[in-house]
Amino acid sequence: METVHHDVLVIGGGGAGLRAAIAVAEADPRLTVGVASKVYPMRSHTVSAEGGAAAVIRPDDSLDEHAYDTISGGDWLCDQDAVEVFVQEAPEEMLRLEHWGCPWGRNPDGRIATRPFGGMKLERTWYAADKTGFHLLHTLYQTSLRFPSISFHDEWFVVDLLVDKGRCHGAVAIELASGKIVALIARSVVLCTGGGGRIYPFTTNANIKTGDGMAFAYRAGVPLKDMEFIQYHPTGLPFTGILITEATRGEGGWLVNKDGYRYLQDYDLGTPEPKPVKRSMELGPRDRLSQAFVGEEEKGRTVTTQWGEVVHLDIRHLGEKLIDERLPFVRELCRKYQKIDPVRELIPVRPVVHYMMGGVHTDIDGATPVAGLFAAGEVACVSINGANRLGSNSLTELLVFGARAGRRAVREAGDAPDRPPDAALTQALDMERQIHGNLLRPAEKGERVATIREEMQTSLEAHAGIYREEEGLTTARDKLQELRDRMAGVTLDDTSLTFNTELLHYLEVRNLLDVAEAVVHSALNREESRGSHQRRDFPERNDDRFLAHSLVRRSVEGEPEVELLPVTITRWEPAERVYGK
Ligand code: FUM
Repeated sequence: METVHHDVLVIGGGGAGLRAAIAVAEADPRLTVGVASKVYPMRSHTVSAEGGAAAVIRPDDSLDEHAYDTISGGDWLCDQDAVEVFVQEAPEEMLRLEHWGCPWGRNPDGRIATRPFGGMKLERTWYAADKTGFHLLHTLYQTSLRFPSISFHDEWFVVDLLVDKGRCHGAVAIELASGKIVALIARSVVLCTGGGGRIYPFTTNANIKTGDGMAFAYRAGVPLKDMEFIQYHPTGLPFTGILITEATRGEGGWLVNKDGYRYLQDYDLGTPEPKPVKRSMELGPRDRLSQAFVGEEEKGRTVTTQWGEVVHLDIRHLGEKLIDERLPFVRELCRKYQKIDPVRELIPVRPVVHYMMGGVHTDIDGATPVAGLFAAGEVACVSINGANRLGSNSLTELLVFGARAGRRAVREAGDAPDRPPDAALTQALDMERQIHGNLLRPAEKGERVATIREEMQTSLEAHAGIYREEEGLTTARDKLQELRDRMAGVTLDDTSLTFNTELLHYLEVRNLLDVAEAVVHSALNREESRGSHQRRDFPERNDDRFLAHSLVRRSVEGEPEVELLPVTITRWEPAERVYGK
């Protein structure tokens, strides 16, 4: 079996992965860095981020305000030491990106422009029109190409990690073009594979977001943290799930029901602070806005369409000039995918799965409990997002913690053994045998993997969506167990080696099932309502029992077990959630 050696292996070529790779190259140019990505880096999901990235820049803002908004928006489940590091390092990361060429929007006086964003009391969201992720990813990719120590394995799908006696030694990957299985041996491994929104059927997430890194870590014995917290973004295009950025509301857009009424005024979106800050109700936190949609639906005040119930986003009053200057992508998306022009027409929208607050349990440097294994970006839970992430914190998060994880991986690389143990190489050979010997061997026709995926997604949407309760979650738990058993009977029609997407989908669904299991078991265990996790049978937040992270791990018998870990509180005592008006 072919082996490739790197000092540091980064799995995932999106924003966090590229930032981590650059951090390694800058910290020690002698170390070789391999970036393995199942798509070309510029196709990573970061590219689709629209609205912006948050960091304090204005003189009337402060790091403490950013920290407070983040912690309050996260319903007090954020680790406050992590948030403090985040807000402190955010501005320098954003300016660094500026120096690397990111075309941040400007005010007429030449200063960095900012826009309001949901749950943020002050304007601190930097943007590049409404294609921020595109520009950010381009900037990182072109910068990464300057470093000779970074090499890319584009369109290589990582199957699993190589872990022996509590240390990670690399991973096994398939080169998709040839079907060749390769052992990628490394002293440090950084997971940057993004989230797993594809456990649901209706999501802004690209098809590639299948929770791969979360599943690798889970199978390697690393706990997944706060997996029950799934963010629904309030404005997705019906049918496609394409994101219509919160920047539409930051620029002044309204959400209206079937009567043209701005219904959010009827809902508790958070207690306003005494400090008078001009905010529109449309800029409440995402969890509350998505819950308000359900309220309107239950009152029969939504609009029935061929794609289900929707409300309308109205940006017509912003005018064509502003829309073309600041929201050109929104106009393009509406025209192409909804056949409407938002300059003149209402945009139909409904809540859509957007982000996972939970992920691989890491410390403030991205280190996991397995030596040599790190994680950053959406795959990780540091945790700065708590029970509900504020819009525009995630792009900044991947910069700050991608860089930190990269630097920490450099330090760890020095402690790693020169050669991986034989046990790790045996694992690699086993994976090769499983794929080439079992999965790609012609077999009698069994079940199709797409059926398993669809049933999983339908069950999660029905039972682990915006609102949950014990009965539904139990049904989803049992369904997942059934689907896991049925995976053994799945066969592949395509047994070829070249770009075998059916094999890829099989391996991705295996990962999705692990992630879905972690979500449902954590949701069942959390008998309270907090942020994006709303239990109809436990409608109140319960700090006495649950001011704590959920950690889910597989027992030796292979059963998921959930335990609680106290939240780190530094300076902000838990209180009611607030956002300014
Ligand atoms: O609406 C948006 O542009 C999304 C931003 C985010 O999730 O941070």
